[in-house]
Amino acid sequence: MAGWTDTHVHLDDSAFDPDRDAVVARAVAAGVTAMICAGTSVEGSRRAVSLAERHPQVFAAVGVHPQQAALLTDAAVRELAVLARHPRVVAIGETGLDYARGRGDAIVQQRAFAAQARLARETGLPLVVHNREASEDVERILDNEEVCAVVMHCFNGSPDLAARWARAGWMISVAGPLTFPKADVLREAARRVPLDRLLVETDAPYLSPVPVRGRRCEPGFVVHTARMLAGLRHMSDEALASVLADNAARVFPRGLTQGRTAAL
Ligand code: NI
Repeated sequence: MAGWTDTHVHLDDSAFDPDRDAVVARAVAAGVTAMICAGTSVEGSRRAVSLAERHPQVFAAVGVHPQQAALLTDAAVRELAVLARHPRVVAIGETGLDYARGRGDAIVQQRAFAAQARLARETGLPLVVHNREASEDVERILDNEEVCAVVMHCFNGSPDLAARWARAGWMISVAGPLTFPKADVLREAARRVPLDRLLVETDAPYLSPVPVRGRRCEPGFVVHTARMLAGLRHMSDEALASVLADNAARVFPRGLTQGRTAAL
């Protein structure tokens, strides 16, 4: 069986300081053959790269989170550009827009998002996008910057939004909320997204899926979300794992193909 890829995890988070190596080992034991550690700051992106150097199953995404957008100076963009050349870096992000706390810094967020979108285009890497209550502006900036590959991380929108973004060629990555009792709209979206547009992730240490909800999330828990997705799509775990491994290898071309080979 192809291994699972957790396409978005914050392994560098201090929540994992006590047992990070054991967390990675448990994920591997659960069948996770690749994990993409998403940076949320320049410093965090550096930590992600060094984790990717230490663990063959870990890859890095480098970026600055929208809630830290003010930190993305021109010098920080240049630092991300240098990090992006590292062979274990497979994406730019986590970036995006987050208006959940209001639009007070919307201009700053949009500037930081656009700069990282340009970096994705220039490096040829996919862009990992966080979107909260900002779908219109997210679309506008992605269209303007002509980003080639986009991963909508922790998708939580409607079936129509998922379908529109899938038609745009963007990937829909679903996380633990897919398993939550009240998530019928999200489950319907996950049912309707074309199979070749789907990915799974944990966003650990956040958003543990049922049946481990409430605990610190870790990348091995992606199997719970993946199994629910397989059920929604009337597929065996094996068949879904194979599709998702192909999707991940296509979207994250650098290195993840190796992960796939290693799993076979
Ligand atoms: Ni995240």
